[in-house]
Amino acid sequence: MNILVTGGAGYIGSHTCVALIQKGHTVIVADNLCNSKIETIDKIKQITNKEVTFYQIDVTDAVAVDTIFSDNSIDGIIHFAGLKAIGESVQKPLEYYYINLVSTMVLSKACLKYGVKKIVFSSSATVYGNNTVPFVENMKLMPCTNPYGETKAMIERILTDIGKVNSDWSVALLRYFNPVGAHECGLIGEEPNGIPNNLMPYITKVAKGELNKLRIFGKDYPTVDGTGVRDYIHVMDLAEGHVAALNNLTEGVHIYNLGTGQGTSVLQLVNAFEEANDIEVPYEIVERRPGDIAVCYAGTSKAKTELGWTAKRDIVDMCRDAWRFEKGYED
Ligand code: NAD
Ligand code: UD1
Repeated sequence: MNILVTGGAGYIGSHTCVALIQKGHTVIVADNLCNSKIETIDKIKQITNKEVTFYQIDVTDAVAVDTIFSDNSIDGIIHFAGLKAIGESVQKPLEYYYINLVSTMVLSKACLKYGVKKIVFSSSATVYGNNTVPFVENMKLMPCTNPYGETKAMIERILTDIGKVNSDWSVALLRYFNPVGAHECGLIGEEPNGIPNNLMPYITKVAKGELNKLRIFGKDYPTVDGTGVRDYIHVMDLAEGHVAALNNLTEGVHIYNLGTGQGTSVLQLVNAFEEANDIEVPYEIVERRPGDIAVCYAGTSKAKTELGWTAKRDIVDMCRDAWRFEKGYED
């Protein structure tokens, strides 16, 4: 299939392009490079030894998006492009609502116009809020505490409503848990701007000596060791989940968790990283981070049954691959 990947130069998008190409698909990337680099496109080509068609456009630009659809025979789209920093979304709500929602509507219109019926969207486990674990797809969602999360919940509703009246559409709303790690070759990985907010990129910066020590946000949660528990998923497993969704989607709107179903605490992840890479990660315990929940992990049976997909890589793989990429990466 010819797949349009919006945000394909970004962290999850670039790994998904590799997974798609390796399964025989052709990718067309649309990205404005606001949070990524053009070199990543070359690295995708280098890893796969295949061509990638690249458009540097803003996906809220309906004219530019139309050009891509008229230039290419597109069989399906994966929509990664958007803004994703939670804290920033509180400061710049209009930007977040505008870019995340308008891009989805522009792409949906183009899909209707050009008869593209397979749509995969990047949602997030954040839409579950503070539900009881494991989070399963048919749970009632809770209001999010930030505009970023709200955009995900709203886009899920928008695509669900469009899917209802276009019954030949196949829509997958993929709720990602905590993507970490990098492609096994070490050429592509996560490159956050500035000081990372998320745990794994913070750990790798501490290990590299670029940051002094990790601050662990709270040790008084009702968990195995008092630190927060999350469902970390290797980014290549996540990427392969997208390929499975495209290949196995049936008509209708379907929600799938992409997680491992395993909870890992902050301290367990730090210990696993130290052991896997034989390197020390100094840390201190500090106050809880506002807005954090204690435990988050996925119910995984729906993706397994309907898409035939499960995560294969473990925490050691995630730690090893994240570190391999960070070591080779120059800011
Ligand atoms: P990323 O920032 O690395 O990738 C997003 C890409 O989209 C970037 O290359 C950026 O340049 C591009 N982009 C942003 N706005 C654009 C626009 N208006 N037009 C064209 N391109 C634009 O982020 P990521 O971690 O790869 O996340 C991809 C998607 O997955 C996002 O929608 C994000 O919200 C979602 N998601 C990510 C996580 C995570 O932990 N990384 C978790 C859940 C959901
Ligand atoms: C965060 C977002 C969530 C988003 C997800 C994936 C918040 C409140 N939530 O989730 O909406 O879907 O990223 O991008 O930002 N931790 C530390 N020290 C650090 C960083 C993190 O102890 O320096 C802890 C956190 O308290 C948490 C765990 O590590 O228990 C994971 O944190 P993080 O990587 O930021 O992901 P989430 O909080 O799950």
